[in-house]
Amino acid sequence: MARLTHLLLTYFLHMILNLSHSPSLCCPQDQKEALLQFKSLLVADLFRNNSVDTSLGDLESWNSSSDCCQWKMVTCHTGSSSHQVTGLNLYYLIPLPPLNTAVTSDVLTPLFRIKSLMLLDISSNSIQGEIPGFGFANLTHLVHLDMRQNSFNSSIPPQLFRLKYLQDLDLSSNSLEGMLSGHLGNLRNLKLLNLDENFLHGNIPTEIGNLTELQTLSLRQNKLSGGIPSSLLNLRKMEVLDLRNNSLSMEIPADIGNLLNMSSFALSKNNLTGGIPSSIRKMSKLETLRLDNNLLSGEIPAWLFDLEEVKNLHLGGNRLIWNNNATIVPKCVLSELSLRSCGLSGHIPVWLTNQTGLNFLDLSENELQGPFPQWLAELDAGTIILSDNKLTGSLPPRLFQSRSLSVLAPSRNNFSGELPENIGETSAVMVLMLSGNNFSGFPVFDPEALLAYIDFSSNRFSGEVPSTFGKNTLMLSLSQNEFSGHLPQNLSNLSQLEHLDLHDDNITGEFPAFLSQMSSLQILNLGNNSLEGSISNDLSNLSSLRILDLSDNKLTGNVPSSLGNLRGMVDTPDLLSSLSDMFSFSIEFQDLFVNWKRSKQGLSSRNLDVYSLLDLSKNQLSGEIPASLGGLKALKSLNMSFNSISGEIPLSFGNLESLETLDLSHNNLSGEIPQTFAKLLQLSTLDLSNNKLRGPIPEGPQMNTLIDPSSYANNSGLCGMQIQVACQEVSAPPVSENGEPESKETSLFSWEFAGIGFPVGFFSAVGVAYGIGYFDNTTRRRLHRPPIRRI
Ligand SMILES: *[C@@H]1O[C@H](CO)[C@@H](O)[C@H](O)[C@H]1NC(C)=O
Ligand SMILES: *[C@@H]1O[C@H](CO)[C@@H](O)[C@H](O)[C@H]1NC(C)=O
Ligand SMILES: *[C@@H]1O[C@H](CO)[C@@H](O)[C@H](O)[C@H]1NC(C)=O
Ligand SMILES: *[C@@H]1O[C@H](CO)[C@@H](O)[C@H](O)[C@H]1NC(C)=O
Ligand SMILES: *[C@@H]1O[C@H](CO)[C@@H](O)[C@H](O)[C@H]1NC(C)=O
Ligand SMILES: *[C@@H]1O[C@H](CO)[C@@H](O)[C@H](O)[C@H]1NC(C)=O
Ligand SMILES: *[C@@H]1O[C@H](CO)[C@@H](O)[C@H](O)[C@H]1NC(C)=O
Ligand SMILES: *[C@@H]1O[C@H](CO)[C@@H](O)[C@H](O)[C@H]1NC(C)=O
Ligand SMILES: *[C@@H]1O[C@H](CO)[C@@H](O)[C@H](O)[C@H]1NC(C)=O
Ligand SMILES: *[C@@H]1O[C@H](CO)[C@@H](O)[C@H](O)[C@H]1NC(C)=O
Ligand SMILES: *[C@@H]1O[C@H](CO)[C@@H](O)[C@H](O)[C@H]1NC(C)=O
Ligand SMILES: *[C@@H]1O[C@H](CO)[C@@H](O)[C@H](O)[C@H]1NC(C)=O
Repeated sequence: MARLTHLLLTYFLHMILNLSHSPSLCCPQDQKEALLQFKSLLVADLFRNNSVDTSLGDLESWNSSSDCCQWKMVTCHTGSSSHQVTGLNLYYLIPLPPLNTAVTSDVLTPLFRIKSLMLLDISSNSIQGEIPGFGFANLTHLVHLDMRQNSFNSSIPPQLFRLKYLQDLDLSSNSLEGMLSGHLGNLRNLKLLNLDENFLHGNIPTEIGNLTELQTLSLRQNKLSGGIPSSLLNLRKMEVLDLRNNSLSMEIPADIGNLLNMSSFALSKNNLTGGIPSSIRKMSKLETLRLDNNLLSGEIPAWLFDLEEVKNLHLGGNRLIWNNNATIVPKCVLSELSLRSCGLSGHIPVWLTNQTGLNFLDLSENELQGPFPQWLAELDAGTIILSDNKLTGSLPPRLFQSRSLSVLAPSRNNFSGELPENIGETSAVMVLMLSGNNFSGFPVFDPEALLAYIDFSSNRFSGEVPSTFGKNTLMLSLSQNEFSGHLPQNLSNLSQLEHLDLHDDNITGEFPAFLSQMSSLQILNLGNNSLEGSISNDLSNLSSLRILDLSDNKLTGNVPSSLGNLRGMVDTPDLLSSLSDMFSFSIEFQDLFVNWKRSKQGLSSRNLDVYSLLDLSKNQLSGEIPASLGGLKALKSLNMSFNSISGEIPLSFGNLESLETLDLSHNNLSGEIPQTFAKLLQLSTLDLSNNKLRGPIPEGPQMNTLIDPSSYANNSGLCGMQIQVACQEVSAPPVSENGEPESKETSLFSWEFAGIGFPVGFFSAVGVAYGIGYFDNTTRRRLHRPPIRRI
């Protein structure tokens, strides 16, 4: 959408600049040469590592035998005495899919000789490196400069702030972080300055205040930090200011409202504190105010709703407080409203009733009570998010007659009753999140429905597992209900399905072989059901499968060695999953609950692609562990505990280089722990207890930190520094009188024995030996658990 707007804008600019274009005149030779040199540098970069002959698109029209004013993407202006190149629309020059190549900012060098440029758009080209400040110093006539969606890093060069005619500057979606490099020169005499990471992340330079013609400025999605400079208040012509998604802190300048022409002001996703400045009241042209996801506090002023032009108001995810006593009589006609987590109580505010233009409404994470109002259903909004409140009653059938409603999320309330019968006929809904209520009954969905995300988890649904869903379904969760019976084969008709979650139901029958045909599956969770029989060999056909949870069932037989071929667990995916990327707002769907680090945890869905796990625990599996599992190099968690698996732990497990959690406890494993465990540098949770393992516990940088004795308890004679049991010189198994390996009761070095000395010995032995490094390593390695935003 943004892209489209962008294209339209540049198109119109192009038109305007073209009005004065005269075809009879040629562009100056030096400018033509500069452009041809740019082309050849770019081509050299693009094809350096590619023999593939890719079309150059509009660049094909650039050749030395024609007038450069006739070339595509080039705009010229004819003055009374001269004609010059004034505009270059060079966005999306890099053909898709991206070639395996890096375009550096050096390619821009020839362009800096075209001093007549007024418009330069080099957006979306993945250009790397620093912004060439000295080059831009030449382009003193620039009015529009668009460099969004590249990979420029380091600082915003000071030369940009001398381009005094600039009206539009877009540096969004880069990795700009440094501070103004000129500052560094001044600080040369500072002796105690610590140039650590924080410092280099730097500020929005004060000099930005020099660009007094600026009307639109976007620095969105960079790594800028510090406060919003008060010099911004000089930019009286400012209409659009977008600083979203940086690391800005401190308060919003109190006088920001002096920018009287502001129509769009966006500061979302920073760390801004303080209240909403009352001066904003003066911005009478304000249409869009995005302050969501900061640390703002104080009361939400009622005057915001008196600003007649306001259409989009995003205040959610702060520490702001809604005055539930205030009488709001809105003078604005809202299109988008987010009051997530603002302390709303009582009923859904009735003053919204005449907001007939409302398209997006997020009132999640409040204390709202009462029913889903009929009038809200009749507003025909596109997105309604009411999750995490205390709403009751049933859903109005009117909702599903809407042709606009595409996202409905009343998750985690106290809604109840049968779902409206017409829910299955919905034509527009794509996301339906009903998790955590007391809904019952079950609709039959139209296979042609647009529904893509269906979360019916944690409700009171019962009976056979339904199988009629839209054929476009990507995500289906029916977990934590009371579904019973066999899994219906019809589910395999959902040919797009990526995520199937049926954990904690009452599903019975043999392991469903048809699952092996659902080739787009990435996540399959059938944990805690009553499935029987053996795991299908063909499951390895699911080449995208990254998360497989079959725990807590009644599965028997061997662990198929073909599981070692699950490609999704071998290669770390480099593309983000398609989940939730479709929507312009950032949401988390219902967490996926799996056993992670020994406890049932929700993995936030937005980051599911980070995880890869295989959980076969709590079944009746037997036989040996197939050595092929050692090939699952991307696996982060492997749990095979509480089975009857015997034999030795394969040496190949040392190849599980991503493994963070390994639980093989409560089996019949024997022999020694492979010394290859020393190679498991990510391992932070290990449980090998309740087996028949013996001999020395492998040492290694990470193994030496795994010193919880319960990880090794109830085995047949393990020894090692981890459990403070010295190993005997000869590592032959201690043999008891009857010739059997010694059981824990008779073992001299039983873990309980070691356990007694543990608290005393801890710091002297382990602490001194591994010192601070131990703590550093373990905290650094801990998997980042991202903030959860569920709807
Ligand atoms: C591209 O080619 C250069 C030599 O021409 C080589 O040094 C570089 O490693 C190659 N890069 C890739 C990504 O293949
Ligand atoms: C150069 O480009 C023009 C169009 O811009 C085209 O008509 C002409 O044939 C091209 N000449 C060569 C030599 O490719
Ligand atoms: C910026 O990117 C270039 C090219 O990728 C790299 O060589 C340079 O180290 C980066 N600089 C910073 C400060 O990250
Ligand atoms: C600025 O323009 C001059 C003259 O056209 C040119 O020689 C110089 O290289 C340009 N500067 C940069 C940094 O490109
Ligand atoms: C900004 O303007 C001030 C004067 O208004 C001037 O002293 C300063 O050099 C300018 N800064 C830049 C980076 O051009
Ligand atoms: C915020 O910026 C980071 C990169 O700095 C990017 O990875 C992330 O997707 C952005 N988030 C949003 C919601 O735009
Ligand atoms: C604000 O906008 C109006 C109308 O577009 C314009 O006349 C006025 O000059 C602008 N104010 C400033 C300070 O640019
Ligand atoms: C906000 O600050 C907290 C710590 O105070 C930090 O963890 C977090 O990354 C910051 N967020 C942003 C967007 O800078
Ligand atoms: C709202 O009114 C109640 C009772 O009238 C009062 O106790 C409460 O403090 C008021 N809350 C605010 C935020 O004004
Ligand atoms: C909503 O209703 C109130 C009271 O009836 C009225 O004052 C206000 O103008 C209406 N707002 C809109 C946007 O229609
Ligand atoms: C949900 O509603 C039921 C009655 O329908 C009530 O018994 C229960 O306490 C409510 N739960 C919560 C958390 O409000
Ligand atoms: C699941 O089925 C078992 C018997 O197969 C039954 O005892 C249990 O109550 C059922 N659980 C639920 C939640 O329906």
